[in-house]
Amino acid sequence: MKSVKELLPPVRLGVNIDHVATIRNARGGTHPDPVRAAFAAVRGGADGITAHLREDRRHIRDRDLQRLRHELKVPLNMEMAATSEMVALACDLRPHACCLVPERRAEITTEGGLDVVGQQAALGEVVARLKRAGIRVSLFIDPEPGQIEAAALTGAQVVELHTGAWAAGRDGELERLQQGARLAADVGLEVHAGHGLTFGNVAPIAAFPQIAELNIGHFLIGEAIFDGLEGVVAHMKSLIMAARGE
Ligand code: PXP
Repeated sequence: MKSVKELLPPVRLGVNIDHVATIRNARGGTHPDPVRAAFAAVRGGADGITAHLREDRRHIRDRDLQRLRHELKVPLNMEMAATSEMVALACDLRPHACCLVPERRAEITTEGGLDVVGQQAALGEVVARLKRAGIRVSLFIDPEPGQIEAAALTGAQVVELHTGAWAAGRDGELERLQQGARLAADVGLEVHAGHGLTFGNVAPIAAFPQIAELNIGHFLIGEAIFDGLEGVVAHMKSLIMAARGE
């Protein structure tokens, strides 16, 4: 007889290639090319590519996104702040998905989830515009019940749960994430997760039955320095599949 674990649906792996652009931009030239990295990630088994167009263009630039959109055969997930500039760019580009994230200029990385409760009406308008352009919309939030319920009310189809606190070792965070994933699925949202995930901490998150996609960047790009991106992505994919009993 099959165990419950063996019956879990597969989890997609989205590889975030922002930091290839960070290295490129350090010298102002064209090497290393984030689009080439995206192809290596796909060869390793990535199911999608994620790229964050920040307001200050510190890593991914507009031209990178256009090339990713037109050259890749796998879905492109554009991370962005819910600003009018970004919404207009996204509606023009029409990536498979947009993940709305909070963005503070001074932060090193996305530090916390969106406050959906505090800006539900404004986010609802952004979600509606993106959906009208045929884009699937995800909201990056902390696993808090109020934020999850508000996310569903905006019309977004997906929430991405912020795993940063889990990665940083905060007590009780795995349970909070599991309860958040359950609630999100119960209110009809597809559940994604990401931030700070590594070979060492991905399995318990990948094993949540509700998880449909994980988005992972910094660790994979860093590890690629030692072992190459294709192989590192393949190893991450195998850890995720093992956690699902595949
Ligand atoms: N998901 C979202 C919404 C993010 O903002 C980030 C960081 O850009 C990630 C996933 C990936 O996080 P990490 O780079 O720590 O793997």
